[in-house]
Amino acid sequence: MRPLMKALSFAAVLAAASFAGMAQSSASFDSTTKVFRLDGGNVSYVFGVNQRGELQQMYWGGRIAAEDHFGPAMTQREWASFDTSYTNTPQEYAGWGGGLFVEPALKVTFADGVRDLVLHYDSHQLTAQGVDVVLKDISRSIFVTLRYRIDSTTGILARSATIENREPQPITIEQAAAAAWALPSGHYSLNYLTGRWAGEWTLNQETLGTGARVIESRRGSTGHQANPWFAIQAGDPDEHHGEVWFGALAWSGSWRIVVERDQLDAVRVTGGFNPFDFSFVLNPAVKLETPVFYGGYSSSGLGGASRLLHHFEIAHVLPHTVGTGDSAAPKPRPVIYNSWEATEFRVSEAGQIALAEKAASLGIDRFVMDDGWFGQRKDDHAGLGDWYVNKEKFPNGLKPLIDKVHSLGMDFGLWVEPEMVNPDSDLYRKHPDWVLNFAGRPRTEQRNQLVLNLARPDVRDYVLGFLDKLLTENDIAFLKWDYNRNWSEPGWDQLPPAQQKQVYVEFTRNLYAILGELKKRHPKVEFESCSGGGGRVDLGILQYADEVWPSDNTDPFDRLTQQDGFTYAYTPQVMMAWVTDSPHWLNKRTTSLSYRLLSSMQGSLGIGANIAQWSGDEIATAKRLIAAYHEVQQTIVQGDLYRLISPRNGSEFSATQTVKGDKSQSVVFAFIHSTQEGHTFPHLKLMGLDPTARYALTPIEGKAEAGTPTVASGAWWMNHGLVLGEDFRGDFQGAAFRLDKK
Ligand code: GLA
Repeated sequence: MRPLMKALSFAAVLAAASFAGMAQSSASFDSTTKVFRLDGGNVSYVFGVNQRGELQQMYWGGRIAAEDHFGPAMTQREWASFDTSYTNTPQEYAGWGGGLFVEPALKVTFADGVRDLVLHYDSHQLTAQGVDVVLKDISRSIFVTLRYRIDSTTGILARSATIENREPQPITIEQAAAAAWALPSGHYSLNYLTGRWAGEWTLNQETLGTGARVIESRRGSTGHQANPWFAIQAGDPDEHHGEVWFGALAWSGSWRIVVERDQLDAVRVTGGFNPFDFSFVLNPAVKLETPVFYGGYSSSGLGGASRLLHHFEIAHVLPHTVGTGDSAAPKPRPVIYNSWEATEFRVSEAGQIALAEKAASLGIDRFVMDDGWFGQRKDDHAGLGDWYVNKEKFPNGLKPLIDKVHSLGMDFGLWVEPEMVNPDSDLYRKHPDWVLNFAGRPRTEQRNQLVLNLARPDVRDYVLGFLDKLLTENDIAFLKWDYNRNWSEPGWDQLPPAQQKQVYVEFTRNLYAILGELKKRHPKVEFESCSGGGGRVDLGILQYADEVWPSDNTDPFDRLTQQDGFTYAYTPQVMMAWVTDSPHWLNKRTTSLSYRLLSSMQGSLGIGANIAQWSGDEIATAKRLIAAYHEVQQTIVQGDLYRLISPRNGSEFSATQTVKGDKSQSVVFAFIHSTQEGHTFPHLKLMGLDPTARYALTPIEGKAEAGTPTVASGAWWMNHGLVLGEDFRGDFQGAAFRLDKK
């Protein structure tokens, strides 16, 4: 078997952070008590080897003093005869065996039919930022290496497991988690994100009841329907206060997170490969590496949790300057223009050049041509798989368009959907065996397309080959990588039946391998992960994707709620947000251009409207707000985000604020859905400013109340607050302000 892909180079990135003098992490092992302790940021994580030899979680929370020590880990007692000590003890990575009734981290069947796995501590190795702990079954040679790394700044942990078979016979893995997280018994609320096409990023908040809440995708990819992120808060949900434990799984294939509150009210969160329709045959001497499950802790509510995640994603997950070893933070995204909503499949050289000229006049940085430029692609019935330029639409290839875009001072991006094929394509006519399928069974189409089996080496090489050629032959700065359906009939007929379910692992590994190789060969090319909107957003793809497309729904009012949900898990740095035409195609809602721009300016701004038809006034408004956005973009997308007023639950208003890391600048957005009964907009008590510094207020759009000081202390803005002008009323109204330290 091919060696599995290396996990992200987390250690290297953290080492770089230490050079900047920020390192405050440590990992230790007390050989007397057999207790491991990891400290980073404001977090301590402690686990130990209990008297039976299992690895047991002991503490996860606010940082404790260096001189504080924990006694040895003590197993939980049996609860009557029905709940074993083994099931009650919060293990770091429990094998299914020995009377385990809660979710196992690992479940296997040995070649002789034995299905009992009891993992005990074997050895460990401390590293600069964490520890690797090796577990072994009590009698058989199955080894599991648990990898722990802690970030010195945020205290976010990265955990994963490598399972190795040193038995003489193959073993079948039926379930493999990346990690299990434990919390002591208590009253908690659970937060998680769900959705559907055009309706992603719904934040669910509920009391964590007894039993199991399963958050998952069985679809072969991340999915719109649930996202691999959770946050558990002590008590009720609170944006600004209280203890929160959160986690995110770095995997773009079928995944599952199980949140359990057991019969003794203890809480466990177990996540990794989705065990549904899953198995992995591990031959002797072969290893299976799980994805990484990140976990963090904040004592500043859900807002504090998401701020930690945002900083961690920017510093340690997103692609940095590949190949140069440069660990500088990713730059704010170029402001893009995308042609999809303007032309759909009707792209042509003349039409795209006309749009590019208009786009350049607005101050756009990057021009992106969407679907329709290749093969026999007139609509969504044909062409996917045939990645040659359509000669009727572009008789001279892409060069004249790309040259024109460059001459207008923009770089050029292109849409691709590499993992898919239309049955009406040369590729499918030549290689009908290349798609996921079961012999003799129907091949269910969605959007008239089938999924190429990327797990196959020949398909992987084909996809890498055509993308490499496209990027070599054309001066392309950016690919919007789309993925417009989920799996059906996921057979892989090159392998024996018992091994075919490995497709769930190998497909995603090959996706990552292709992206990684393209980044290596074309270090300057950037990628967007799109899957009919937000169907593939997770910390696995974000190791390779510089940005994501959160939703095909670009209605600016819907976007306020979607963007709010999105930012619980992901940084605005990657959150692309286009301004499109009004009335909106989905909701038929009419909104002003200024409102649409302000809604999109909360993330990484793009324009996706038919700008060829914009009036002079519209061009002027867009130009003015794009210029204002450019000036404060870094603060918006990389600063500390405070969700001041939530747009959720039918709120009349919403507001966000971001503060630059050094507190020198802040940007405030305020929105009215529909003013009722003459309500005035609430006072916005700002957060996160330096109380003693002086800040000057400048409107980007809208007005503050008459008499508002132009310069006041951070304390004034935070305690007195920013009051909006008397006339800030109506339907779908927006305002924005910047504060700059004097
Ligand atoms: C998906 C994407 C859209 C657009 C179309 C093109 O739906 O989410 O933005 O690129 O495909 O077919």
